[in-house]
Amino acid sequence: MRRPLVAGNWKMHGTRTSVAELLSGLLDACRNCRAEVAVMPSLVHLEQVFQALEGSEVVLGAQNCAVEPGQGALTGEVSASQLLDFSCTYVLVGHSERRQLLGEDDQQVVRKFSAVQSCGITPILCVGETLAERESDQTLNVVLGQVSAVLDALGVQAFSRAVVAYEPVWAIGTGLTATADQAQQVHAAIRQHVAAFDADVAEKLRILYGGSVKSTNAVELFAMPDIDGGLVGGASLNADEFGAICRAAGN
Ligand code: PGA
Repeated sequence: MRRPLVAGNWKMHGTRTSVAELLSGLLDACRNCRAEVAVMPSLVHLEQVFQALEGSEVVLGAQNCAVEPGQGALTGEVSASQLLDFSCTYVLVGHSERRQLLGEDDQQVVRKFSAVQSCGITPILCVGETLAERESDQTLNVVLGQVSAVLDALGVQAFSRAVVAYEPVWAIGTGLTATADQAQQVHAAIRQHVAAFDADVAEKLRILYGGSVKSTNAVELFAMPDIDGGLVGGASLNADEFGAICRAAGN
């Protein structure tokens, strides 16, 4: 049985004041939630969120890390080992905003995935197709290709300590959501792809859906057999809305 996970990706949002407000609402809204709940603040708020989460069941994550796991001379970057110092449980790797807008390629994604795992943190590997790719029937090629980049480089066992997030690029921040059936189809394909290498790893692998998840569509999405929770952007900045999504995942 896979425990659902809901991760709030705060992206480049927040001030110390707004983060404090969001946290206090969120800790209330997520109390006794059956799903695992994670929040991923901007790095400048990591210390603040780390302190606020102490004693709560909500865990901390980061949105990115350097390709090298250890500390070193790499101006402006943050290493997975530094994230471990804040007890980060998860780190996103390969988010589409980084792939599309910052030119991150599969090779860098593999290195970050490996850096995160080498520090004992769980990577959340983000994969997803653009609208043009979906319209030209390339969805599975693209998504399974992104999964394969990690599989080929690090082997299937790497997925026994990882989470995958399927996030169609056209659904991120647009208000457009994949239908539950569209998402389920891709989630099932990802699981089958991993199962071809190791059925047990595939069965235990949590695959999250991301892309305009809201309290109004969460129940239907999370009812799908291969959708094990969500990666939530915009809606995670509202404590009540995020709490409702977490409850939907726990039911
Ligand atoms: P969204 O973002 O929920 O605002 O669409 C999801 C994500 O990018 O992780």
